[in-house]
Amino acid sequence: MSNMQWAISKFSYGVVNYRHPIRAKVFDAVQRAYGQTYTATTPMECAEIYHAVAACEKIPGDIAEAGVFLGGTARLILSGSKKNVHLFDTFEGLPHDEGNFKSGEWKGSLPDVKRNLAEYADRLEFHPGLFPGSTAGLDHLRFSFVHLDLDLYTSTLAALEWFWPRLEKGGIILSHDYPLSEGVVRAFHEFFDGLPEPFIPLSGNQCLAVKG
Ligand SMILES: C[S@@+](CC[C@H](N)C(=O)[O-])C[C@H]1O[C@@H](n2cnc3c(N)ncnc32)[C@H](O)[C@@H]1O
Repeated sequence: MSNMQWAISKFSYGVVNYRHPIRAKVFDAVQRAYGQTYTATTPMECAEIYHAVAACEKIPGDIAEAGVFLGGTARLILSGSKKNVHLFDTFEGLPHDEGNFKSGEWKGSLPDVKRNLAEYADRLEFHPGLFPGSTAGLDHLRFSFVHLDLDLYTSTLAALEWFWPRLEKGGIILSHDYPLSEGVVRAFHEFFDGLPEPFIPLSGNQCLAVKG
């Protein structure tokens, strides 16, 4: 697809679909959260996250995000839910090089993220450190919605292995960077090849799976 076709398709999508009341309501919510804490996740992708968060409010369990950076998508999730939210990150950036990703990229420090999300402090739990080591003592947790944004193969595979058995029936895992990151693609295919449930690529750089 040429740049011109791409630009037109985006414009057309906006004109045709953004004004539907269901989408308009979600885009209003995304816009409110978007300006407040930086995220590289696009507004369209944020809308997918917001829809999934809203859909999972009826599922028991907490919410988690693994891959927080400055807290941009975490803020969006918090704004769309009343649940407790667990945030997993090194808070020192990516733990190693992989493909085009470089160690230390996407560093959002713990004090910065706490400041960015201060208004939600009463229902936030921070789990700093290298995942999955940072899950020590958390085996009892159960989740309704999990947002993965870890960029890397090993991190994403470890997150799928830890979160999937702790996801309630009907709960959703939604990941960023599919198919943008080769590592994320590899992790999803490896993990879901052995499961009865499918995962579904979305129209942005995302995919999701619903627990059966
Ligand atoms: C692209 S950023 C997340 C972006 C964020 N969701 C947003 O809204 O802007 C990727 C994050 O994954 C984290 N990360 C990657 N692998 C990790 C691991 N194994 N353990 C903990 N954090 C990890 C990095 O520290 C970084 O903050």
